[in-house]
Amino acid sequence: MQGLAFGGDYNPEQWPLEVQEEDVRLMREAGVNLVSLGIFAWARMEPRDGVYAFEWLDEVVDRLHASGISVNLGTPTAAPPAWFFRKYPDAFPVTRDGTRIGFGGRETACSSHPGFLAATSRLVGRLAERYGDHPGVVMWHVHNEYGAPLGECYCPASVHAWRDWLRTRYASLDALNEAWGTTFWGQTYGEWAEIDAPRWSHTVVNPAQRLDYARFANHEHLAHYRLQRSLLAGTGKPVTTNFAGTVNCKSMDLWSWAPELDVIANDHYLVAEREDNHIQLAMSADLSRSLAGGGPWMIMEHSTGAVSWQDRGIAKRPGEMRRNSLAHVARGSDSVLFFQWRASRFGAEKFHSAMVPQAGTDSQLWRDVVALGADLRGLAGLRGARVDAPEVAIVWDWESYWALELEWRPSGDLSYLERVEAFYEALWREHVTVDFVHPSADISRYRVVVAPSSYLLADASAKNLQRYVETGGTLLVSYFSGIVDEHDTVHHGAYPGALRDVLGLSVEEFHPLRADQTVTLDRPARIWSERVRLHGAAAVRTFGDGPDAGHPAVTRHALGAGTAWYLATAPHPADLRALLRQVLDGAAVQRPHGLPETLELVRRGGHAFLINHADTPAQVPGITGQDLLTGAPFTGEVPAGGVAVISVGSSPCP
Ligand code: GLA
Repeated sequence: MQGLAFGGDYNPEQWPLEVQEEDVRLMREAGVNLVSLGIFAWARMEPRDGVYAFEWLDEVVDRLHASGISVNLGTPTAAPPAWFFRKYPDAFPVTRDGTRIGFGGRETACSSHPGFLAATSRLVGRLAERYGDHPGVVMWHVHNEYGAPLGECYCPASVHAWRDWLRTRYASLDALNEAWGTTFWGQTYGEWAEIDAPRWSHTVVNPAQRLDYARFANHEHLAHYRLQRSLLAGTGKPVTTNFAGTVNCKSMDLWSWAPELDVIANDHYLVAEREDNHIQLAMSADLSRSLAGGGPWMIMEHSTGAVSWQDRGIAKRPGEMRRNSLAHVARGSDSVLFFQWRASRFGAEKFHSAMVPQAGTDSQLWRDVVALGADLRGLAGLRGARVDAPEVAIVWDWESYWALELEWRPSGDLSYLERVEAFYEALWREHVTVDFVHPSADISRYRVVVAPSSYLLADASAKNLQRYVETGGTLLVSYFSGIVDEHDTVHHGAYPGALRDVLGLSVEEFHPLRADQTVTLDRPARIWSERVRLHGAAAVRTFGDGPDAGHPAVTRHALGAGTAWYLATAPHPADLRALLRQVLDGAAVQRPHGLPETLELVRRGGHAFLINHADTPAQVPGITGQDLLTGAPFTGEVPAGGVAVISVGSSPCP
């Protein structure tokens, strides 16, 4: 394949031959060069147990190949056929409250079930054998969105696998009892067979057990992926799976998945009713790029318009599909792929948008799709280019996300995403592109690292952050960070045990705020207040009122060659912006000045992407060069809702 990949999920099994032939003609018209095929077609590929029918698929792959359209071939394990469940009724997952799910949806088989693993191996082996050498098949798309909606399964096969997983992790019951703190509420185990999954109970179930179960569920899905990857590896073609939206895929620890994928692939859908949903898109894209180690990745699915699974199927605004698509490319995607090529006439997703809508080709949407194809041909040279190395990173850790949001935390308003998004948004509006990092990763190249709500911090991660500061880094930590270790056990001594030394302070008591309560910095702050005691740090701001009036709200600690900042509340966005500016300036972080805050600016491979999210034109002084989208010199103005991609080489920020 040349240039950027353009296309989407393609389900020809839903259509008669004449429509499939029209599909290929229209794909060529739009410039589609890659489709994802067969993702839910197990029942067509293996209509009876051990009876395979690939002729229809051969014809589709050949037809596409003859027209220059490459195939990303799906392994259809997210939708096992009806015969499979008749044979293995106990392969249906069981939910935490004990409900065994039924047939008719998807993600309907337990990843730990031996019958499912065996059926997966047989089918995927056949696919590898039949299409491994086909020149039209350029990559493999394993399963579909692991972890969504099926995260944890509580069936007997899962419990069996869980006990094995625990034996490997802890070796002895003494170690497990210690790690889980089972002396609390008298839960000590004397036999492995006594350990069950952390099912729903009248009261809160042991949080360390819950946390391990989340790890175990991640491990089981990853093992199912690995099994498929091992069967496909011999074909020499790249293998991937589509993440269910990096930011929203809470149930999978994608740091553990990333090394197993030949290319990171992400699905992203806007929360249609959110005005600022393009910021959340940028965050999802930045996290995808970070999982790809800063290299190119693929947007495997997004939508041309409305989705069918939100309360209201809100269509995209004029130009929004284009802005969304080019924002993914700006942030490192080498593809613009959609769910799906042609809108289905039946089934659960018939009201979902597609590249070919129910209205057909005499529609604005189709014209926009064709125009987008032309845009992407103009950007072909960007394939493989890296986004200019960000100077700022945000700590992102799925284990902390899981642990923070278990029950009986000091406030129901504590939310992992809410805090990360608050910092991300402030940085986005400052035109700062960020990477996401695991707290144990090598972070030495960043000028600033932000750790929002890093509730769970293992000792090694805490030491990593400390070393980063001592050797000259600038760390900004927000409240309720460094509180527990990997077993959800509070670090010794006063909060925040893992970060006391690096921050130069301790927290004597938490004072979470009531639902409608605020405390004052310059403007009202929400959610959290706490009594900070300084042990080396200096107070930069104090609370103006509330339970900690007069006590530190923002602190700064000089440590070694670096600086550690601490923020003890959830400030008003304007106050957070002001604080971040101070922190960024202190660390000499480069960023453009004088641009409207609704203008997204990202630099990739010697090009500045300027995406105007406002409904008025944006003036961008100081950038000159050719606009790859128009072929003309950039005039210094990006039209309302428009995009420009300017060749700027290595010239500095305006
Ligand atoms: C997910 C799935 C697709 C489709 C879309 C709809 O991303 O992977 O099969 O259901 O959602 O938005």
